[in-house]
Amino acid sequence: MSTSKPNLKLLAVDDTPADLELIRDALATEPIQVFTAPNAELGLERFIQLRPRIVLCDLFLPGMNGLELLDRILAKDPGANVVLVTAYYSTDSAVQAIRQGAHDYLPKPLDIERLRRCVRDLAGQDAERQRTLHLDNDLVDAFQFENMIGRSPLMLEVFGKIRRIAPHFRSALIVGATGTGKELVAKALHRLSPGAGAPFVVSNCSALVESLLESELFGYVRGAFTGALQDKLGIFEYANGGTVFLDEIGELPLSAQAKLLRVVQNSEVQRVGSPIPREVDVRIVAATHRDLRKMVAKGQFREDLFYRLSVIEIVVPSLGERKEDLPLLQRHFVEKYAGIYKKDVAGLTRRAQARLAAHGWPGNVRELENVISRGCMMAAGSVIDLQDLPETLQRPAQADDFSPNEFVSLEAMQERYLLRVLSHVRGNKAKAAEILGVGRNTIYQMLRRISFPGESVLAEEIEARDDRPR
Ligand SMILES: Nc1ncnc2c1ncn2[C@@H]1O[C@H](COP(=O)(O)OP(=O)(O)OP(=O)(O)O)[C@@H](O)[C@H]1O
Ligand SMILES: [Mg+2]
Repeated sequence: MSTSKPNLKLLAVDDTPADLELIRDALATEPIQVFTAPNAELGLERFIQLRPRIVLCDLFLPGMNGLELLDRILAKDPGANVVLVTAYYSTDSAVQAIRQGAHDYLPKPLDIERLRRCVRDLAGQDAERQRTLHLDNDLVDAFQFENMIGRSPLMLEVFGKIRRIAPHFRSALIVGATGTGKELVAKALHRLSPGAGAPFVVSNCSALVESLLESELFGYVRGAFTGALQDKLGIFEYANGGTVFLDEIGELPLSAQAKLLRVVQNSEVQRVGSPIPREVDVRIVAATHRDLRKMVAKGQFREDLFYRLSVIEIVVPSLGERKEDLPLLQRHFVEKYAGIYKKDVAGLTRRAQARLAAHGWPGNVRELENVISRGCMMAAGSVIDLQDLPETLQRPAQADDFSPNEFVSLEAMQERYLLRVLSHVRGNKAKAAEILGVGRNTIYQMLRRISFPGESVLAEEIEARDDRPR
């Protein structure tokens, strides 16, 4: 007998009181809390209310039958383990039940030992799932750096770079597509810098009209323009000792770029309307999704400012380039949003995960965060399933869902497809040939090409070498 706490809930649904009794007795010695319901309607109600991990359900019930109940339960919680029980056992109906998502199918009269074994197995699997969940959580901790999650080589490189430069930098440029985490990188630089105790101030260069932008950045003196009734600090003076984050630096008008250069170069600002420069001690982090080099070439961005800023450049990779980070990010956001919405969501179903893995993620981490947030909100049970994903993600990836960095040649596509078919038929080349509508020789030829790319070139080289006098 186990001594662990009976925290695993099991619900038995049966219209025969004697059978419910038998189940209670059989499981009395197990560390499991047993609940019962005399029909499917009440069963579903109790399921929703109690969220048991295991359901034992009679197949023939008055009103809604067991298979229907199975469907309804799985719709609420695709992770639930449902075992169907019936006196009218047949292999066909067992197969049907399992195909519909039942975990197992037990004949009546119930064999007590078999019932216990089945429930113990399920309890063990459930504990294992919880354990891997904890393991995953430990992993999340290990691959967490200043509120950023990542384990891909590209992200570990970014983390390393931040750690190395944060204590020393005066200005830095962060480049990356939308939603990749540029602001998080900027905050990390600030927090690890000697100015961490002073303010971190954000200004979005695209959000303000040119005249307002200058007074926001550099401040103004009384009388500088109508309405300037008193002196006002600009962001640089306000953040003195700390960090100014200039988001969307590519949108900064040329006139403001000239003034910014003075801050970067000489650590001084000039308030609008004042001839006196004031000294400031700020670190400047600029971010952009634009290609500043191209803008420099077109005369849209000052070359001197670009070189000053880009002395330290951090490139934040897009999510499509680091899909290894997907599982950790998913887990992180599931935890975050399950907490926010106070829901018991623990993860995603395998098929939902597969769908996310196949997506191109043009909106990067922000898009993923939105998808998981929505998923947590929509999820009826403890897992996010396909129907909880946005519509565009509910259907399998289409050819035109490829993002440009996923494009491959037709030949490469053919090879990948061949390998997929082959793994499906467990390497049976005759079957693969049949599915693909080609001869077996074609399969062999393609396989040779995959195993020995450039074989013909190599052969020629070897021949040429062999011709040389030895
Ligand atoms: N590595 C990461 N780990 C955890 N959360 C992340 C990570 N990267 C980004 N996020 C989250 O994704 C969202 C977008 O990040 P952020 O605002 O830093 O991106 P950005 O590159 O500044 O985007 P934009 O260019 O649109 O301003 C934020 O909610 C952020 O917390
Ligand atoms: Mg941003």
